[in-house]
Amino acid sequence: MANTQKLLRLIKENNLQHHPQIQKLLEAGIATDNDQKQKTIRKLIELHAAKQLKKPFTETTPDTSLLDKPIILGKTRNHCQTYAIPEESLTRHILTNGATGTGKTTLHLNILNQLTTPYWIFDRKQDYRHLTQQQDNLLVLPWHRVRFNPLQPPQGVGPAQWAMSISEILSHSTDLLSGSRNYVLTHIIELYKQYNLFDEHSSPYPTLLDLEELIQSDKVNYVRKTSNYRDTVLSRLEPMTEVTRPVFNCSRHYPYENLIQRNMVFEFEGLDRDIQNFIQESIFAYLYHYLSQNGFRGKGLHLVLVWDEAKKAFSYKKEQSDAAGIPEMDDLTAKAREFGLSLMVSDQESTKLTESIKANTETKVLLRPSDYNQLSSMADSMGLDELQRSYAFNLDVGQAIVKHAGCRPVPVDTRDFDLDKNVSDEDLRRSQEEQWESLDYSLRDRDPLEKGSSSGSEGVDLSDYLKK
Ligand SMILES: Nc1ncnc2c1ncn2[C@@H]1O[C@H](COP(=O)(O)OP(=O)(O)OP(=O)(O)O)[C@@H](O)[C@H]1O
Ligand SMILES: [Mg+2]
Repeated sequence: MANTQKLLRLIKENNLQHHPQIQKLLEAGIATDNDQKQKTIRKLIELHAAKQLKKPFTETTPDTSLLDKPIILGKTRNHCQTYAIPEESLTRHILTNGATGTGKTTLHLNILNQLTTPYWIFDRKQDYRHLTQQQDNLLVLPWHRVRFNPLQPPQGVGPAQWAMSISEILSHSTDLLSGSRNYVLTHIIELYKQYNLFDEHSSPYPTLLDLEELIQSDKVNYVRKTSNYRDTVLSRLEPMTEVTRPVFNCSRHYPYENLIQRNMVFEFEGLDRDIQNFIQESIFAYLYHYLSQNGFRGKGLHLVLVWDEAKKAFSYKKEQSDAAGIPEMDDLTAKAREFGLSLMVSDQESTKLTESIKANTETKVLLRPSDYNQLSSMADSMGLDELQRSYAFNLDVGQAIVKHAGCRPVPVDTRDFDLDKNVSDEDLRRSQEEQWESLDYSLRDRDPLEKGSSSGSEGVDLSDYLKK
Protein backbone atom coordinates (compact mmCIF):
# COMPACT_ATOMS: atom_id res chain seq x y z
CA MET A 1 0.00 0.00 0.00
CA ALA A 2 2.78 2.41 1.01
CA ASN A 3 4.66 1.47 -2.15
CA THR A 4 1.60 2.17 -4.26
CA GLN A 5 1.24 5.59 -2.64
CA LYS A 6 4.89 6.34 -3.45
CA LEU A 7 4.37 5.33 -7.08
CA LEU A 8 1.25 7.50 -7.35
CA ARG A 9 3.11 10.47 -5.89
CA LEU A 10 6.01 9.98 -8.29
CA ILE A 11 3.63 9.80 -11.26
CA LYS A 12 1.74 12.90 -10.18
CA GLU A 13 4.86 14.96 -9.49
CA ASN A 14 6.09 14.23 -12.99
CA ASN A 15 2.77 14.77 -14.70
CA LEU A 16 2.67 11.26 -16.11
CA GLN A 17 -0.95 10.42 -15.21
CA HIS A 18 -2.15 10.22 -18.80
CA HIS A 19 0.76 8.26 -20.18
CA PRO A 20 -0.53 4.81 -21.32
CA GLN A 21 2.76 3.00 -20.55
CA ILE A 22 2.92 4.51 -17.06
CA GLN A 23 -0.63 3.39 -16.40
CA LYS A 24 0.35 -0.18 -17.26
CA LEU A 25 3.38 0.04 -14.96
CA LEU A 26 1.22 1.39 -12.16
CA GLU A 27 -1.29 -1.44 -12.58
CA ALA A 28 1.57 -3.96 -12.44
CA GLY A 29 2.94 -2.23 -9.31
CA ILE A 30 -0.44 -2.40 -7.59
CA ALA A 31 -0.88 -6.06 -8.56
CA THR A 32 2.41 -7.29 -7.05
CA ASP A 33 3.74 -7.68 -3.47
CA ASN A 34 7.20 -8.49 -4.71
CA ASP A 35 9.64 -5.81 -3.46
CA GLN A 36 12.15 -6.40 -6.24
CA LYS A 37 9.44 -6.05 -8.88
CA GLN A 38 8.17 -2.87 -7.22
CA LYS A 39 11.70 -1.44 -7.27
CA THR A 40 12.08 -2.17 -10.98
CA ILE A 41 8.74 -0.51 -11.72
CA ARG A 42 9.78 2.53 -9.70
CA LYS A 43 13.07 2.74 -11.64
CA LEU A 44 11.22 2.54 -14.96
CA ILE A 45 8.88 5.36 -13.97
CA GLU A 46 11.85 7.47 -12.84
CA LEU A 47 13.52 6.81 -16.19
CA HIS A 48 10.38 8.04 -17.97
CA ALA A 49 10.35 11.14 -15.80
CA ALA A 50 14.02 11.85 -16.61
CA LYS A 51 13.37 11.35 -20.32
CA GLN A 52 10.41 13.67 -20.12
CA LEU A 53 12.58 16.38 -18.59
CA LYS A 54 14.46 16.54 -21.87
CA LYS A 55 11.23 16.80 -23.84
CA PRO A 56 9.97 20.25 -24.69
CA PHE A 57 6.51 19.66 -23.23
CA THR A 58 5.11 18.23 -20.03
CA GLU A 59 1.74 17.43 -21.41
CA THR A 60 -1.36 18.39 -19.52
CA THR A 61 -4.82 18.31 -21.03
CA PRO A 62 -7.95 19.94 -19.68
CA ASP A 63 -10.19 17.12 -18.42
CA THR A 64 -12.85 17.04 -21.14
CA SER A 65 -15.29 15.06 -19.01
CA LEU A 66 -15.61 18.08 -16.71
CA LEU A 67 -16.15 20.60 -19.47
CA ASP A 68 -19.54 22.05 -20.15
CA LYS A 69 -19.84 22.17 -23.96
CA PRO A 70 -16.28 21.15 -24.87
CA ILE A 71 -14.81 22.25 -28.18
CA ILE A 72 -12.41 19.55 -29.28
CA LEU A 73 -9.32 20.88 -31.03
CA GLY A 74 -7.65 17.50 -31.56
CA LYS A 75 -5.49 14.89 -29.81
CA THR A 76 -2.40 15.61 -27.74
CA ARG A 77 0.64 14.59 -29.76
CA ASN A 78 2.46 12.58 -27.11
CA HIS A 79 -0.33 10.80 -25.26
CA CYS A 80 -3.17 10.82 -27.77
CA GLN A 81 -5.59 12.38 -25.30
CA THR A 82 -8.54 14.48 -26.45
CA TYR A 83 -7.63 18.15 -26.21
CA ALA A 84 -10.65 20.40 -25.68
CA ILE A 85 -11.45 23.88 -24.43
CA PRO A 86 -14.78 25.04 -22.99
CA GLU A 87 -17.02 26.83 -25.52
CA GLU A 88 -17.60 29.59 -22.99
CA SER A 89 -13.86 30.37 -22.98
CA LEU A 90 -14.23 31.66 -26.53
CA THR A 91 -15.55 34.91 -25.04
CA ARG A 92 -11.90 35.43 -24.15
CA HIS A 93 -11.01 34.99 -27.83
CA ILE A 94 -8.78 32.63 -29.81
CA LEU A 95 -5.78 33.48 -32.00
CA THR A 96 -4.26 31.11 -34.58
CA ASN A 97 -1.00 31.70 -36.36
CA GLY A 98 0.81 29.62 -38.96
CA ALA A 99 2.35 29.76 -42.42
CA THR A 100 0.08 29.48 -45.42
CA GLY A 101 -1.51 26.04 -45.81
CA THR A 102 -0.74 24.85 -42.28
CA GLY A 103 -4.39 24.51 -41.22
CA LYS A 104 -5.77 27.80 -39.80
CA THR A 105 -9.03 27.75 -41.74
CA THR A 106 -9.41 24.01 -41.13
CA LEU A 107 -9.13 24.61 -37.39
CA HIS A 108 -11.79 27.33 -37.61
CA LEU A 109 -14.08 24.99 -39.55
CA ASN A 110 -13.70 22.36 -36.86
CA ILE A 111 -14.51 24.79 -34.09
CA LEU A 112 -17.51 26.25 -35.93
CA ASN A 113 -18.83 22.76 -36.51
CA GLN A 114 -19.02 22.17 -32.75
CA LEU A 115 -20.41 25.53 -31.65
CA THR A 116 -23.80 25.80 -29.98
CA THR A 117 -23.54 29.60 -30.36
CA PRO A 118 -24.19 31.44 -33.65
CA TYR A 119 -21.23 32.69 -35.67
CA TRP A 120 -20.51 35.32 -38.30
CA ILE A 121 -17.54 34.90 -40.61
CA PHE A 122 -15.59 37.61 -42.44
CA ASP A 123 -14.38 35.57 -45.35
CA ARG A 124 -11.74 37.01 -47.67
CA LYS A 125 -11.25 33.95 -49.87
CA GLN A 126 -14.61 32.20 -50.37
CA ASP A 127 -13.43 29.47 -48.00
CA TYR A 128 -16.61 29.09 -46.00
CA ARG A 129 -19.46 29.15 -48.59
CA HIS A 130 -18.92 25.42 -48.98
CA LEU A 131 -20.44 24.90 -45.54
CA THR A 132 -23.84 25.45 -47.19
CA GLN A 133 -23.54 21.82 -48.32
CA GLN A 134 -23.64 20.74 -44.68
CA GLN A 135 -25.78 23.43 -43.07
CA ASP A 136 -29.25 24.35 -44.27
CA ASN A 137 -29.60 27.54 -42.24
CA LEU A 138 -26.32 29.22 -43.18
CA LEU A 139 -26.76 32.66 -44.77
CA VAL A 140 -23.93 33.58 -47.17
CA LEU A 141 -23.74 37.18 -48.36
CA PRO A 142 -21.30 37.91 -51.18
CA TRP A 143 -20.26 41.56 -50.70
CA HIS A 144 -22.54 42.88 -53.45
CA ARG A 145 -25.54 41.39 -51.61
CA VAL A 146 -24.62 43.06 -48.31
CA ARG A 147 -26.73 46.09 -47.41
CA PHE A 148 -25.04 48.06 -44.69
CA ASN A 149 -25.35 51.70 -43.76
CA PRO A 150 -22.39 52.62 -41.53
CA LEU A 151 -24.23 55.78 -40.49
CA GLN A 152 -27.24 53.93 -39.04
CA PRO A 153 -26.67 53.81 -35.27
CA PRO A 154 -27.29 50.38 -33.73
CA GLN A 155 -30.56 49.99 -31.85
CA GLY A 156 -30.32 51.71 -28.46
CA VAL A 157 -27.10 53.57 -29.31
CA GLY A 158 -27.17 57.38 -29.31
CA PRO A 159 -26.21 59.20 -32.54
CA ALA A 160 -23.34 61.11 -30.91
CA GLN A 161 -21.78 57.93 -29.56
CA TRP A 162 -22.12 56.21 -32.90
CA ALA A 163 -20.77 59.22 -34.80
CA MET A 164 -17.61 59.06 -32.71
CA SER A 165 -17.21 55.33 -33.08
CA ILE A 166 -17.81 55.22 -36.83
CA SER A 167 -15.56 58.20 -37.56
CA GLU A 168 -12.79 56.41 -35.63
CA ILE A 169 -13.41 53.21 -37.56
CA LEU A 170 -13.38 55.02 -40.92
CA SER A 171 -10.10 56.69 -39.99
CA HIS A 172 -8.58 53.46 -38.68
CA SER A 173 -9.51 51.34 -41.68
CA THR A 174 -8.49 53.91 -44.30
CA ASP A 175 -5.43 55.37 -42.50
CA LEU A 176 -6.74 58.85 -41.79
CA LEU A 177 -4.98 61.02 -39.24
CA SER A 178 -6.69 62.64 -36.29
CA GLY A 179 -7.36 65.98 -38.07
CA SER A 180 -9.28 64.22 -40.82
CA ARG A 181 -11.05 62.07 -38.22
CA ASN A 182 -12.41 65.15 -36.48
CA TYR A 183 -13.42 66.58 -39.83
CA VAL A 184 -15.40 63.38 -40.55
CA LEU A 185 -16.96 63.46 -37.09
CA THR A 186 -18.09 67.07 -37.50
CA HIS A 187 -19.76 66.25 -40.79
CA ILE A 188 -21.49 63.13 -39.50
CA ILE A 189 -22.88 65.16 -36.61
CA GLU A 190 -24.06 67.79 -39.10
CA LEU A 191 -25.82 65.09 -41.11
CA TYR A 192 -27.45 63.63 -38.01
CA LYS A 193 -28.65 67.12 -37.19
CA GLN A 194 -30.15 67.53 -40.63
CA TYR A 195 -31.88 64.17 -40.31
CA ASN A 196 -33.18 65.14 -36.90
CA LEU A 197 -31.62 62.04 -35.33
CA PHE A 198 -30.83 63.80 -32.06
CA ASP A 199 -34.54 64.23 -31.38
CA GLU A 200 -35.91 61.16 -33.08
CA HIS A 201 -33.80 58.05 -33.32
CA SER A 202 -35.45 56.39 -36.31
CA SER A 203 -35.24 55.92 -40.07
CA PRO A 204 -34.47 57.54 -42.48
CA TYR A 205 -30.78 57.62 -41.71
CA PRO A 206 -28.19 59.52 -43.74
CA THR A 207 -25.83 57.38 -45.79
CA LEU A 208 -22.17 57.44 -46.75
CA LEU A 209 -23.27 58.95 -50.07
CA ASP A 210 -24.91 61.82 -48.18
CA LEU A 211 -21.73 62.29 -46.20
CA GLU A 212 -19.75 62.45 -49.41
CA GLU A 213 -22.14 65.02 -50.91
CA LEU A 214 -22.08 67.11 -47.76
CA ILE A 215 -18.28 67.16 -47.78
CA GLN A 216 -18.17 67.89 -51.52
CA SER A 217 -20.42 70.88 -50.90
CA ASP A 218 -18.19 72.13 -48.10
CA LYS A 219 -16.90 75.61 -48.86
CA VAL A 220 -13.24 75.28 -49.67
CA ASN A 221 -11.02 77.80 -48.03
CA TYR A 222 -7.58 77.25 -49.48
CA VAL A 223 -5.89 79.15 -46.71
CA ARG A 224 -7.27 76.89 -44.02
CA LYS A 225 -6.18 73.35 -43.36
CA THR A 226 -9.74 72.06 -43.70
CA SER A 227 -9.34 71.97 -47.49
CA ASN A 228 -6.66 69.32 -47.00
CA TYR A 229 -8.95 67.34 -44.74
CA ARG A 230 -11.76 67.69 -47.25
CA ASP A 231 -9.65 66.30 -50.10
CA THR A 232 -8.16 63.53 -47.98
CA VAL A 233 -11.52 62.35 -46.67
CA LEU A 234 -13.07 62.50 -50.15
CA SER A 235 -10.21 60.42 -51.51
CA ARG A 236 -11.29 57.69 -49.06
CA LEU A 237 -15.04 58.04 -49.54
CA GLU A 238 -15.17 58.25 -53.32
CA PRO A 239 -13.87 54.73 -54.06
CA MET A 240 -16.34 53.37 -51.50
CA THR A 241 -19.38 55.07 -52.93
CA GLU A 242 -18.36 54.17 -56.48
CA VAL A 243 -17.26 50.55 -56.18
CA THR A 244 -19.48 49.56 -53.31
CA ARG A 245 -22.53 51.68 -54.10
CA PRO A 246 -25.09 48.84 -53.82
CA VAL A 247 -23.83 48.09 -50.30
CA PHE A 248 -24.03 51.64 -49.00
CA ASN A 249 -27.03 52.89 -50.99
CA CYS A 250 -29.43 52.05 -48.20
CA SER A 251 -30.85 54.20 -45.46
CA ARG A 252 -32.01 51.34 -43.24
CA HIS A 253 -29.94 48.19 -43.54
CA TYR A 254 -30.72 44.52 -42.93
CA PRO A 255 -31.97 43.80 -39.41
CA TYR A 256 -28.54 42.75 -38.12
CA GLU A 257 -29.81 42.85 -34.54
CA ASN A 258 -32.06 39.87 -35.37
CA LEU A 259 -29.48 38.18 -37.57
CA ILE A 260 -27.27 37.71 -34.49
CA GLN A 261 -29.31 34.53 -33.95
CA ARG A 262 -28.09 33.10 -37.26
CA ASN A 263 -24.90 31.73 -38.75
CA MET A 264 -23.67 34.05 -41.49
CA VAL A 265 -20.78 34.39 -43.91
CA PHE A 266 -19.83 37.81 -45.33
CA GLU A 267 -17.77 37.28 -48.45
CA PHE A 268 -15.28 39.98 -49.41
CA GLU A 269 -13.33 38.46 -52.27
CA GLY A 270 -12.76 40.94 -55.10
CA LEU A 271 -13.24 44.02 -52.94
CA ASP A 272 -10.55 46.62 -52.25
CA ARG A 273 -8.76 45.88 -48.96
CA ASP A 274 -9.53 49.26 -47.35
CA ILE A 275 -13.22 48.87 -48.13
CA GLN A 276 -13.21 45.29 -46.81
CA ASN A 277 -11.66 46.54 -43.61
CA PHE A 278 -14.02 49.43 -43.26
CA ILE A 279 -17.07 47.15 -43.60
CA GLN A 280 -15.64 44.50 -41.27
CA GLU A 281 -14.55 46.92 -38.58
CA SER A 282 -17.86 48.81 -38.82
CA ILE A 283 -19.86 45.61 -38.39
CA PHE A 284 -17.69 44.65 -35.41
CA ALA A 285 -18.28 48.07 -33.82
CA TYR A 286 -21.98 47.84 -34.65
CA LEU A 287 -22.28 44.47 -32.90
CA TYR A 288 -20.26 45.62 -29.93
CA HIS A 289 -22.28 48.78 -29.35
CA TYR A 290 -25.57 46.97 -29.89
CA LEU A 291 -24.70 44.25 -27.36
CA SER A 292 -23.29 46.75 -24.87
CA GLN A 293 -26.38 48.95 -24.93
CA ASN A 294 -29.03 46.27 -24.85
CA GLY A 295 -28.49 44.29 -21.67
CA PHE A 296 -26.07 41.61 -22.89
CA ARG A 297 -23.37 42.29 -20.30
CA GLY A 298 -22.16 39.26 -18.36
CA LYS A 299 -24.71 36.92 -19.93
CA GLY A 300 -22.29 34.48 -21.58
CA LEU A 301 -21.35 33.88 -25.18
CA HIS A 302 -23.66 35.37 -27.85
CA LEU A 303 -21.79 35.45 -31.11
CA VAL A 304 -18.46 34.23 -32.46
CA LEU A 305 -16.87 36.51 -35.04
CA VAL A 306 -14.40 34.74 -37.33
CA TRP A 307 -11.65 36.90 -38.76
CA ASP A 308 -9.20 35.17 -41.13
CA GLU A 309 -6.21 37.27 -42.26
CA ALA A 310 -6.77 39.70 -39.46
CA LYS A 311 -3.57 41.75 -39.63
CA LYS A 312 -5.20 44.68 -41.42
CA ALA A 313 -7.90 45.17 -38.83
CA PHE A 314 -5.65 44.37 -35.87
CA SER A 315 -2.66 46.17 -37.28
CA TYR A 316 0.41 46.65 -35.11
CA LYS A 317 1.48 49.64 -37.21
CA LYS A 318 -1.83 51.41 -36.71
CA GLU A 319 -1.80 50.62 -33.01
CA GLN A 320 1.61 52.29 -32.74
CA SER A 321 0.78 55.30 -34.89
CA ASP A 322 -2.45 56.26 -33.18
CA ALA A 323 -1.68 59.50 -31.44
CA ALA A 324 -5.00 59.86 -29.68
CA GLY A 325 -4.68 57.11 -27.06
CA ILE A 326 -6.19 53.65 -27.40
CA PRO A 327 -7.55 53.06 -30.92
CA GLU A 328 -11.23 52.14 -31.08
CA MET A 329 -10.42 48.66 -32.44
CA ASP A 330 -8.18 47.87 -29.46
CA ASP A 331 -10.73 49.19 -27.07
CA LEU A 332 -13.48 47.04 -28.59
CA THR A 333 -11.18 44.00 -28.58
CA ALA A 334 -10.45 44.38 -24.90
CA LYS A 335 -14.08 44.90 -23.92
CA ALA A 336 -15.97 42.62 -26.34
CA ARG A 337 -15.78 39.70 -23.90
CA GLU A 338 -17.98 41.48 -21.38
CA PHE A 339 -20.84 41.33 -23.86
CA GLY A 340 -20.32 37.79 -25.11
CA LEU A 341 -18.80 38.80 -28.44
CA SER A 342 -16.01 36.36 -29.23
CA LEU A 343 -13.21 36.89 -31.74
CA MET A 344 -11.69 33.96 -33.59
CA VAL A 345 -8.73 35.53 -35.32
CA SER A 346 -6.04 34.07 -37.57
CA ASP A 347 -3.15 35.31 -39.64
CA GLN A 348 0.12 34.15 -41.15
CA GLU A 349 2.06 37.08 -39.76
CA SER A 350 1.81 37.48 -36.02
CA THR A 351 4.46 40.23 -36.14
CA LYS A 352 1.88 42.46 -37.78
CA LEU A 353 -0.87 41.89 -35.22
CA THR A 354 -1.62 44.35 -32.42
CA GLU A 355 -0.29 43.80 -28.92
CA SER A 356 -3.91 44.15 -27.88
CA ILE A 357 -5.13 41.11 -29.84
CA LYS A 358 -2.18 39.06 -28.57
CA ALA A 359 -2.77 40.11 -24.98
CA ASN A 360 -6.53 39.64 -25.15
CA THR A 361 -6.68 36.12 -26.61
CA GLU A 362 -6.91 33.43 -23.96
CA THR A 363 -6.36 30.52 -26.35
CA LYS A 364 -3.43 30.65 -28.73
CA VAL A 365 -2.74 28.11 -31.44
CA LEU A 366 0.65 28.06 -33.14
CA LEU A 367 0.87 26.04 -36.34
CA ARG A 368 4.17 25.83 -38.22
CA PRO A 369 5.39 29.43 -38.51
CA SER A 370 6.70 30.81 -41.79
CA ASP A 371 9.91 32.25 -40.36
CA TYR A 372 11.80 33.01 -37.20
CA ASN A 373 10.25 36.46 -36.68
CA GLN A 374 6.72 35.07 -36.84
CA LEU A 375 7.72 32.31 -34.44
CA SER A 376 9.30 34.72 -31.95
CA SER A 377 6.39 37.08 -31.79
CA MET A 378 3.84 34.30 -31.21
CA ALA A 379 6.14 32.28 -28.92
CA ASP A 380 6.74 35.36 -26.75
CA SER A 381 3.02 35.85 -26.27
CA MET A 382 2.62 32.13 -25.42
CA GLY A 383 5.65 32.04 -23.10
CA LEU A 384 7.40 29.21 -25.02
CA ASP A 385 10.97 28.28 -24.09
CA GLU A 386 13.84 27.62 -26.53
CA LEU A 387 13.18 23.89 -26.82
CA GLN A 388 9.51 24.50 -27.50
CA ARG A 389 10.39 27.09 -30.15
CA SER A 390 12.56 24.68 -32.10
CA TYR A 391 9.81 22.07 -31.79
CA ALA A 392 7.38 24.53 -33.44
CA PHE A 393 9.59 24.80 -36.52
CA ASN A 394 9.29 21.10 -37.17
CA LEU A 395 5.51 20.91 -37.02
CA ASP A 396 3.71 19.35 -39.97
CA VAL A 397 0.39 20.50 -41.51
CA GLY A 398 -2.34 20.40 -38.85
CA GLN A 399 0.11 19.97 -35.98
CA ALA A 400 -0.01 22.76 -33.42
CA ILE A 401 1.13 24.01 -30.06
CA VAL A 402 -1.89 25.11 -28.06
CA LYS A 403 -1.73 27.41 -25.06
CA HIS A 404 -5.00 27.81 -23.22
CA ALA A 405 -5.52 30.21 -20.31
CA GLY A 406 -3.17 29.42 -17.41
CA CYS A 407 -2.42 25.88 -18.66
CA ARG A 408 0.97 24.83 -20.00
CA PRO A 409 1.43 24.72 -23.79
CA VAL A 410 0.56 21.36 -25.31
CA PRO A 411 1.42 19.92 -28.74
CA VAL A 412 -1.81 18.88 -30.45
CA ASP A 413 -2.68 17.10 -33.69
CA THR A 414 -5.64 19.18 -34.84
CA ARG A 415 -8.41 17.50 -36.78
CA ASP A 416 -8.83 17.63 -40.51
CA PHE A 417 -12.23 18.76 -41.80
CA ASP A 418 -14.02 17.03 -44.61
CA LEU A 419 -15.47 19.64 -46.97
CA ASP A 420 -15.84 19.58 -50.74
CA LYS A 421 -14.86 23.03 -51.93
CA ASN A 422 -17.04 23.07 -55.02
CA VAL A 423 -19.84 25.61 -54.43
CA SER A 424 -19.83 27.93 -57.46
CA ASP A 425 -21.35 31.43 -57.64
CA GLU A 426 -24.30 29.95 -59.49
CA ASP A 427 -24.80 27.19 -56.87
CA LEU A 428 -24.71 29.83 -54.19
CA ARG A 429 -27.22 32.05 -55.94
CA ARG A 430 -29.57 29.12 -56.40
CA SER A 431 -29.42 28.06 -52.76
CA GLN A 432 -29.41 31.54 -51.22
CA GLU A 433 -31.45 33.84 -53.46
CA GLU A 434 -34.70 33.31 -51.60
CA GLN A 435 -33.02 34.26 -48.31
CA TRP A 436 -31.35 37.32 -49.88
CA GLU A 437 -34.71 38.52 -51.20
CA SER A 438 -36.34 38.09 -47.81
CA LEU A 439 -33.94 40.45 -46.02
CA ASP A 440 -35.63 43.74 -45.25
CA TYR A 441 -33.95 47.12 -45.91
CA SER A 442 -34.86 50.51 -47.33
CA LEU A 443 -33.06 52.43 -50.05
CA ARG A 444 -31.39 55.77 -49.50
CA ASP A 445 -33.87 58.57 -48.93
CA ARG A 446 -32.56 61.92 -50.11
CA ASP A 447 -35.41 64.18 -48.95
CA PRO A 448 -34.05 65.28 -45.57
CA LEU A 449 -30.82 66.44 -47.16
CA GLU A 450 -32.63 68.41 -49.83
CA LYS A 451 -34.64 70.09 -47.09
CA GLY A 452 -31.50 70.63 -45.02
CA SER A 453 -29.11 73.54 -45.26
CA SER A 454 -26.33 71.54 -46.89
CA SER A 455 -24.10 74.43 -46.01
CA GLY A 456 -21.10 72.56 -44.68
CA SER A 457 -20.10 72.28 -41.07
CA GLU A 458 -19.06 75.77 -40.19
CA GLY A 459 -21.89 76.33 -37.73
CA VAL A 460 -21.76 73.00 -35.87
CA ASP A 461 -20.83 73.14 -32.22
CA LEU A 462 -19.67 69.58 -31.57
CA SER A 463 -19.79 69.76 -27.81
CA ASP A 464 -23.57 70.34 -27.82
CA TYR A 465 -24.16 67.13 -29.72
CA LEU A 466 -21.65 64.97 -27.95
CA LYS A 467 -23.46 65.66 -24.70
CA LYS A 468 -26.70 64.18 -26.07
N1 LIG B 1 -5.47 19.01 -39.12
C1 LIG B 1 -5.22 18.65 -40.37
N2 LIG B 1 -4.96 17.38 -40.69
C2 LIG B 1 -4.70 17.03 -41.98
N3 LIG B 1 -4.68 17.90 -43.01
C3 LIG B 1 -4.93 19.17 -42.74
C4 LIG B 1 -5.21 19.63 -41.41
N4 LIG B 1 -5.40 20.96 -41.45
C5 LIG B 1 -5.27 21.31 -42.73
N5 LIG B 1 -4.98 20.26 -43.51
C6 LIG B 1 -4.79 20.27 -44.97
O1 LIG B 1 -4.07 21.43 -45.36
C7 LIG B 1 -4.78 22.17 -46.34
C8 LIG B 1 -4.64 23.64 -46.05
O2 LIG B 1 -5.33 23.95 -44.85
P1 LIG B 1 -5.98 25.36 -44.55
O3 LIG B 1 -6.67 25.87 -45.75
O4 LIG B 1 -6.75 25.20 -43.33
O5 LIG B 1 -4.67 26.23 -44.31
P2 LIG B 1 -4.56 27.77 -43.96
O6 LIG B 1 -3.54 27.88 -42.89
O7 LIG B 1 -5.89 28.35 -43.69
O8 LIG B 1 -3.94 28.37 -45.30
P3 LIG B 1 -3.99 29.88 -45.83
O9 LIG B 1 -3.05 30.68 -45.00
O10 LIG B 1 -3.51 29.75 -47.23
O11 LIG B 1 -5.39 30.35 -45.72
C9 LIG B 1 -6.23 21.68 -46.25
O12 LIG B 1 -6.83 21.62 -47.50
C10 LIG B 1 -6.14 20.30 -45.64
O13 LIG B 1 -6.19 19.32 -46.63
MG1 LIG C 1 -6.95 29.94 -44.56
